[in-house]
Amino acid sequence: MENLYKKVAETMINLKQCVALTGAGISEESGIPTFRDKGGLWGKYDPMVYASIDVFMKDPSKYWSLRDLFIKNYDDYKPNKAHYALKDLEEMEILRCVITQNIDGLHIKAGSKNVIEIHGSIREIFCLKCNKKYETPNIPDGIPPYCSCGGVLKPNTVLFGEELPPEAIMKAKHESMTCKIMLLIGTSAIVYPAASLPHLAQQNGAQIVEINIERAFPNADYYIEGKAGVVLPKIVDTIRTITIDR
Ligand code: APR
Repeated sequence: MENLYKKVAETMINLKQCVALTGAGISEESGIPTFRDKGGLWGKYDPMVYASIDVFMKDPSKYWSLRDLFIKNYDDYKPNKAHYALKDLEEMEILRCVITQNIDGLHIKAGSKNVIEIHGSIREIFCLKCNKKYETPNIPDGIPPYCSCGGVLKPNTVLFGEELPPEAIMKAKHESMTCKIMLLIGTSAIVYPAASLPHLAQQNGAQIVEINIERAFPNADYYIEGKAGVVLPKIVDTIRTITIDR
């Protein structure tokens, strides 16, 4: 296993131009539930009822019935060692951006500068009628919450059946096509278009390093089994050791 870390670290030092694509698994150690793991959110709530735009437009109370899971305690969630390790890699000028499927804002809270939130963020909540912006968790009570104008509120996140923010997905595709290494971290890599990004990277010559507690991307060039909060700091330490010895 030590050799694997050394090989990955040396590749990252030599190639640089590294991009991370993260999923719910990177926030699991911050106490945020994943979606498809055992005990995950979609095992308890049908996403086509609780997280689809069609249902939301007919009955927003379904989505908002989950508000206590994410929104009420938004400020309580803290980045974990995995988020900070990616911030360190960015400061070491090895990682050039984080593309995240997560809406929890933890990469930004950890200090990463170049973060592409392709599924949006629960940080901003808008009125569907007058577009007034509210900041999580300071939003009106109620399921669903209403704006002072009477319109219903919706977080700036992508629900199933909704288009991804065009600028974000375009930037994510460009980064994936031009990077030399993609760290694929804590994602089941099955929800498109995010799941197309590692394929796009590999088709353009990038090496894929998967970091996950179980394999999700069999075509990865390297697979490091383990929790992101353990593996990523170890990769950073290995890079630091190699750099000092050079
Ligand atoms: N460290 C690393 N990987 C982990 C950890 C951990 N501590 N805990 C769980 N994992 C892995 C699981 O093995 C799984 O492969 O994280 C992955 C989580 O997969 P999902 O729950 O499917 O989450 P994600 O891939 O982010 O889902 C993608 O689906 O529902 C939509 O919009 C939602 O952004 C989400 C998208």
